[in-house]
Amino acid sequence: MTQHPRAEIDQLAEASIAALRAPSILNTQPWRWRLEGEHAELWADRARRLDGLDPDGRLLLLSCGTALHHATVALRAAGYAADIERLPDAERPDLLARIRQGAPGPAERDLYAAIYRRRTDRRPFADRRPDGSVLAELGAAAERHGTHLHVVRPDQVAAFASAVAHANAVERADDRYRADILAWTTRPRQERDGVSARSTVPAGSQPVPPRDLNPAAPATLRPGPGADRGTVYLVLAVDAEAPAAWLAAGEALSDVWLTLTARGLAASPISEVVEVEPVRAALRRLLGGAGHPAIAVRVGYPEQDAGPVPVSTRRSGTDTVGLPGQP
Ligand SMILES: Cc1cc2nc3c(=O)[nH]c(=O)nc-3n(C[C@H](O)[C@H](O)[C@H](O)COP(=O)(O)O)c2cc1C
Repeated sequence: MTQHPRAEIDQLAEASIAALRAPSILNTQPWRWRLEGEHAELWADRARRLDGLDPDGRLLLLSCGTALHHATVALRAAGYAADIERLPDAERPDLLARIRQGAPGPAERDLYAAIYRRRTDRRPFADRRPDGSVLAELGAAAERHGTHLHVVRPDQVAAFASAVAHANAVERADDRYRADILAWTTRPRQERDGVSARSTVPAGSQPVPPRDLNPAAPATLRPGPGADRGTVYLVLAVDAEAPAAWLAAGEALSDVWLTLTARGLAASPISEVVEVEPVRAALRRLLGGAGHPAIAVRVGYPEQDAGPVPVSTRRSGTDTVGLPGQP
């Protein structure tokens, strides 16, 4: 049955609104959607790139990839295949994707519900370790996007932890990096972006040190009794250092994160290991040279009785979605 174009625009608009919930580096939400007849365009918003922390824009593209995958999940939940053309115009590299509703198909709602439950959970996780079958499922989610998920082996966790500590130390000594963190953890409320102290925890005795996201105000989320003993550290790797690979890594990050959320697990990314070049190279060696690390993620079960992490703020559809005829 041919749908009226109006209905298609409505589906695409809904998908772009669901994509607002996507995770992004420091909650910068560095994308814009433009609805154009029967397709929606996803554009990178370079004005939101972090100069100190992300000069190449790799984390910006990862963030846009999470938004793209969220939109796809929303269309599939509505019963459409979602056709995507990635980087369709070499002359306009900031046009990241063109997405159409696609053919009707079975409604896939599993991951859709996870969009609204997913949070970055920075609290130490419980002692129960995610088992091999759930890790295999996460690996399959990464492979769907042509990326690979490496599990840091228990005997490699100490080396991984020192790589994270080293990245943190290098960044703390860098004025431009510190300026990015300060700016995006003290955003005026009406901007509806940035990281709030309500979703960060104070540094404790976690085996892998958390990034300090609290230069201006103390963290207010209670860390709870977890000790991160069951936590698994994953590294998502790509085959090339290039924009298309970083966009795919973002789609994979979203797929892995929504999948683990649907299985009752929680996660928080550790991107400092890819932000500092020598640390990224050391991590690549730790993986045995298999692929280029795009991001690391800690995954575990939240402690029983741990309440929900507060939902983080987002911009509105009016700020991020342009309708036909609008600039
Ligand atoms: C590419 C990328 C890198 C991120 N890096 C980190 C990080 O290094 N440390 C951290 O605590 N959170 C990190 N995050 C999580 C964001 O801070 C988080 O998604 C954002 O603040 C929105 O919060 P929410 O995920 O709870 O919706 C990252 C997210 C993305 C997509």
